[in-house]
Amino acid sequence: MVGYMTSLAEQPASCFSVASTVNLQTISTNHLKNKRVIVRVDFNVPIENGVIQDNSRIKNAFPTIKLLREAGAKIILISHLGKTTAPCAEQSLRILIDEVAREYGSNVAFIDDCLAENAASIINNSNAGDIILMENLRFHPEEEKCDMKFAKRLASLADLYVNEAFSVSHRKHASIWGIPQFLVSAFGISFKREVRTIDDFYNKAPSPKICIIGGAKLSTKIKLLKNLVKKVDKLIIGGKIVEAFLAFQGNSSFKLVDLGEFKEDVAEIIANARQRGCELIMPIDFSAMICENGVFHHAIVSSESDVATIFDIGPASIELFKRHIEKSKIVLWNGPVGLFEKAPFDRGTAAIAQLVAKLTRERKLLSIIGGGDTGFAMNKFNAAQDMTYVSTAGGAFLSYLEGSELPGIAAIPDPKKTPGR
Ligand code: 3PG
Repeated sequence: MVGYMTSLAEQPASCFSVASTVNLQTISTNHLKNKRVIVRVDFNVPIENGVIQDNSRIKNAFPTIKLLREAGAKIILISHLGKTTAPCAEQSLRILIDEVAREYGSNVAFIDDCLAENAASIINNSNAGDIILMENLRFHPEEEKCDMKFAKRLASLADLYVNEAFSVSHRKHASIWGIPQFLVSAFGISFKREVRTIDDFYNKAPSPKICIIGGAKLSTKIKLLKNLVKKVDKLIIGGKIVEAFLAFQGNSSFKLVDLGEFKEDVAEIIANARQRGCELIMPIDFSAMICENGVFHHAIVSSESDVATIFDIGPASIELFKRHIEKSKIVLWNGPVGLFEKAPFDRGTAAIAQLVAKLTRERKLLSIIGGGDTGFAMNKFNAAQDMTYVSTAGGAFLSYLEGSELPGIAAIPDPKKTPGR
């Protein structure tokens, strides 16, 4: 069981499932010495009042930075931060300089505009192993428009491109799709691990394989659910999205979402699950707010209350989910099963997180956690450190899991561009 994940992690990157991937780990040092390497990282970290709340994404890029630094490359880090399309102090990557320097144990030079006239000379005059951080790419609207002139200008600063930003690779942006059209390109170490973890969950993981899918927005999970029922043995559905399934089954006991446009999708998911032998597991009770005589109060409900608004799974559902998880060998979890930010509706997610963490610690279960909110919840319940793998990606994790093509992966297809091969 444990050997399963360990041995996969140790496999040579040539077994990486994306065809024609450039292999950064086998490029000879000669090819990197004094070369200018532009690394697309995802430093889109949560910041409150100028204080970084979670630096996992900075840590995540470290193995690649270390490899490049030890090989004597000049490292140019590019990233976005936030959703801006114009310069603003709150989303300046300047805020991250000290944190990056501390995490990477190195001085960090800063270029305050990725199109600055002097960018090339600063980079060219830097020393082997230096780290240069560029200002937020999204300060130029050309980034999100995937403007190829913008991409070419950035590419002209470097000899090699590395994508170490899996979590943005569902975006067809200049730094993700554009730059690799002009440069020899490679995937970063954490990028490959991210993809391999999902690939191996689908193709190599031991059975019984269980998925927990929660979250609030059904529209973002339909494609995923359709894909998962073909690939896993059991699928637990929690969170607000379960309401659509309850509504489909004709449950009129709760204030449920309007099934509307999703009726056919839900029917297809249920039919495919039946056909493929995937067991669908739904909650049997809920933690809800009930309105009685105009006054709201908290209650555990099963099916008798017609004025309940559900916010979490109930205690019987927690026990039901636990029984299924305990019988599984690997779990992939995306989306909290309740409104975990707010007590008492955090109980379901907390109980499942603690069980998955405990079983993983005891080496009885492999656990893969993905999606921004889910990782956040694991941190809140102090469970993240016990999980086998916690992705730093949200939208990209979901896209790859549902079987969509990621522009960041499609952009690096040509093995002939590979240096050192
Ligand atoms: C993320 O936080 O999911 C990535 O950094 C992508 O950010 P975006 O949704 O603003 O493109």
